[in-house]
Amino acid sequence: MKKSMQKLLSKNKEKMSEKDAKGIFQIDEAEIAGFLKEIGNYEIDYIPSKEIKKGLTTEYVGKEIYSFHEVESTNSVAKFLAKFGAPEGSVVLSEIQTKGKGRRGRKWESPTGGIWLSIMLKPMIEPSKAPLITLATGVAVVKTLRGMNIDARIKWPNDILINNKKVCGILTETNAKFNSVDHVIVGVGIDSNLDTNILADDLREGTTSLRNETQADIEETEIISNFLNEFEEIYDLFKEKKFDEILYDWRRMSQTIGSYVEIKQPLGKILRGNAVGINNQGVLILELDNGELKKVISGEYLIRED
Ligand code: BTN
Repeated sequence: MKKSMQKLLSKNKEKMSEKDAKGIFQIDEAEIAGFLKEIGNYEIDYIPSKEIKKGLTTEYVGKEIYSFHEVESTNSVAKFLAKFGAPEGSVVLSEIQTKGKGRRGRKWESPTGGIWLSIMLKPMIEPSKAPLITLATGVAVVKTLRGMNIDARIKWPNDILINNKKVCGILTETNAKFNSVDHVIVGVGIDSNLDTNILADDLREGTTSLRNETQADIEETEIISNFLNEFEEIYDLFKEKKFDEILYDWRRMSQTIGSYVEIKQPLGKILRGNAVGINNQGVLILELDNGELKKVISGEYLIRED
């Protein structure tokens, strides 16, 4: 199956036809249509994967990189890779996403100027442990940015901030069957050279880019390699069930723990209190104004932290 995938994707700069795809995969019409739609404007190696690979010290993350000019969402392409038997650690990159996905069903603006990346994982874990992969990814992003002398912090559950403005978002999608996980897609969007002036007013205010913060053009391939190196290291800890080590780093990089926060619950109710910690499922523990301890899951939404 892996060979088929490579054959399909190595058709450099050609648009895949439905006939090609049918010949290669034993999959039905609807799946082929979906795959071709995802592949979109198929032009492989738009962001040079050779350069990225030169900077890798990993054993499996980023050994296969599929780099596109334009797709709907790198997470969706990574899901297809999972289905077609691509190896764990395969990476999908795109210069543009036309339907970039954000958390809580939001659209993620993905024009040129960002790093839009997904990693396909096949961890042998129970689904309840999957949220820890998101926390681990946040730690890997912060380590990467701190390696560039950028003071990045994590806002619970998984926004990465610089000077209180969001520079990176993480969307993890887990495909679980019964009580086991088939695959997890970790999607990371980093505003590297993004011109934040092009964003809508409500987004612009709270968003920054690495270029804004450093006043310099950012070498994206280097960040991608460094991030993939950091990611594999922490994901290995996850696979070894060393959750405490991940949580220790997360807590130390978090801007939320120790702050007074307001959380919006799904039905609109606002909770206020001190964020005193996260438990080992990534659930935020809030000490409410009346002293009661309350667990807050990541579906809820942090709207203010002082
Ligand atoms: C958030 O809402 O903060 C999460 C945003 C995640 C965006 C990334 S960009 C690469 C990957 N592909 C997507 O469609 N979404 C994620």
